[in-house]
Amino acid sequence: MSAAADLESLINIKLNRRHLLGGAGALLAASTSPVAVMAAATPVERPFTFEEISHGVDETHHVAKGHDVQVVIRWGDPILPGAPAFDPQRQSPEAQAQQFGYNNDYVGYIPLGRDRAIMCVNHEYAISHLMFPGKDHITPTHCAIEQAAVGASIIEIERRGGQWHVVQNSPRNRRITASGTVFDISGPARGSARLATSADPKAEQIIGTFGNCAGGVTPWGTYLSSEENVDENFIGTLAPDHRETRNHQMMGVPGGLYQWGRFDPRFDIGKEPNEPNRFGWVIEVDALDPSNPPKKRTAMGRFKHEGAETVISSDGRLVIYMGDDERFQHLYRFVSRDRVDHKNRAANRDLLDHGILSVARFDPQGVTWLPLVFGQGPLTPENGFESQADVVIEARHAAKLLGATPMDRPEDVQPHPTNGKVYVMLTNNNKRQAGQEGAANPRADNVNGHIVELAAPGGDHGAARFDWDVLVLCGPLGSDATWNPATSANGWFASPDNCTIDPHGRLWVATDQGAKWPGTGSADGIWALGTSGPDRGRGYMFFRVPVGAEMCGPCFAPDGRTLFAAVQHPGADGVANYAPFGRASTFDDPATRWPDFDPKLPPRPSLIAITRKDNKEIGL
Ligand code: FEO
Ligand code: CA
Ligand code: CA
Repeated sequence: MSAAADLESLINIKLNRRHLLGGAGALLAASTSPVAVMAAATPVERPFTFEEISHGVDETHHVAKGHDVQVVIRWGDPILPGAPAFDPQRQSPEAQAQQFGYNNDYVGYIPLGRDRAIMCVNHEYAISHLMFPGKDHITPTHCAIEQAAVGASIIEIERRGGQWHVVQNSPRNRRITASGTVFDISGPARGSARLATSADPKAEQIIGTFGNCAGGVTPWGTYLSSEENVDENFIGTLAPDHRETRNHQMMGVPGGLYQWGRFDPRFDIGKEPNEPNRFGWVIEVDALDPSNPPKKRTAMGRFKHEGAETVISSDGRLVIYMGDDERFQHLYRFVSRDRVDHKNRAANRDLLDHGILSVARFDPQGVTWLPLVFGQGPLTPENGFESQADVVIEARHAAKLLGATPMDRPEDVQPHPTNGKVYVMLTNNNKRQAGQEGAANPRADNVNGHIVELAAPGGDHGAARFDWDVLVLCGPLGSDATWNPATSANGWFASPDNCTIDPHGRLWVATDQGAKWPGTGSADGIWALGTSGPDRGRGYMFFRVPVGAEMCGPCFAPDGRTLFAAVQHPGADGVANYAPFGRASTFDDPATRWPDFDPKLPPRPSLIAITRKDNKEIGL
């Protein structure tokens, strides 16, 4: 199919989705006024009808009665033509670079038709003690496998007989890795001396991406992936009084979790002090056109990016919401300068290079979006900013100077497609002390997180000021949580992380409690969450992951009959406190061998597809 035909298909499917929502048209249709769509948004959501599962933890997954869970693809499964089968005892960088990567996170769905799609899946980070047998994992080969295991997979899938299958030899299948993918630098930081390295003195191209956490899909069918905890991949020491000292400190560089720098000098900041400045961006990959080079879109700033979910403003420009997932970091928004072209896909090719990045300040009266523009306010040479390149490279510093509100770990930020609302997942913040509470982060020692709801005035996502409210303070019933009183003993959750909106405009939330889940008594999972009418603030437990896993990337197929999700790091988090296991988990002795339960195979992060046994829409 040509790229133009693909875009037409994408728009048609989105049109259907708007129809399902009861909206009067399509945000994507150039002839339709998005303002009219806002006015026609569904006022009260339809109730969730599935039977909840119970809180709990064990070695496998659980889903609401009447549903099936299919494992679509697992770490190590072949993707590219000729890729070898997974052999965990004889891994190699070459094999891994042709196979599905590790620790799947964000899941993006680009439709190619009713039963065919491109899935874009992030691979966030490596876990050597679960990936590799034995004890010595710091070798050049292990580091090279890790570099090939992270990044992203782009896979074509098709539905046959109600099941989703990977099209293994599709020419669209691709691996994006930390070592084998070249990105063009675009936007204001291209050519900045602060991104120059010995391998790239003109700062024009970057090898690799990693820390790919959440992301988004643009209306023209490209894939956005967010580089998050990039500090962890660097080691070394800067020279005294180096220009990047403050910048690297603000990003946590060098985190030193991975030892790539021992064998690959660019990850040693003593040798390549600017290399960290080449990570922490949003990347754009054209999943429909592999001849279009991947880009690092620097106009969207550099920080620990979580997601990059998109919506079109009432005047036709693209708006992207982004969290900076660290305690006391910020919530950002990018508004493109130009309008999305719905007829000519190529016209959007550099849309993300021009626009205004801004950061949120919450007051009791509303949210103010503060622009990160060189020369405005404190973003001047007196404060170390010589150009817009400096502003985007040190977006965290700029945000703090502007007075942005320090948040409780902003993760996925999901705009509702039609009603002007935006849902902000705030995972937790156990470092917020008494006296540091604020209107939008109202709890000290916020171990359970909360969800804030923004409201764009009149549905205008480009407006300078929004209204806001707390949708729910999460945590156990009977604590200081603020669930709807109708919430069941299983309907509450902690640490909201990723989320998505179903074709009926309803919110579904995935959680990441980290190592703390033994205290809450339940594994992570997916909860449906009411946002309007009598159901507002009521959670419904739908799915839970196997022990030690995190729930990532929930994403509905446009017909609402499949909910895709990514089970990340099964057997990893908190397993020493899981009584049936009670020790550290390793490749050779893991807390679970999900999903294969084969004594020769380790646990494998996997993409799953949840469907109803009666093939109807989920949650109706
Ligand atoms: Fe990668 Fe913020 O979760
Ligand atoms: Ca996350
Ligand atoms: Ca999302």
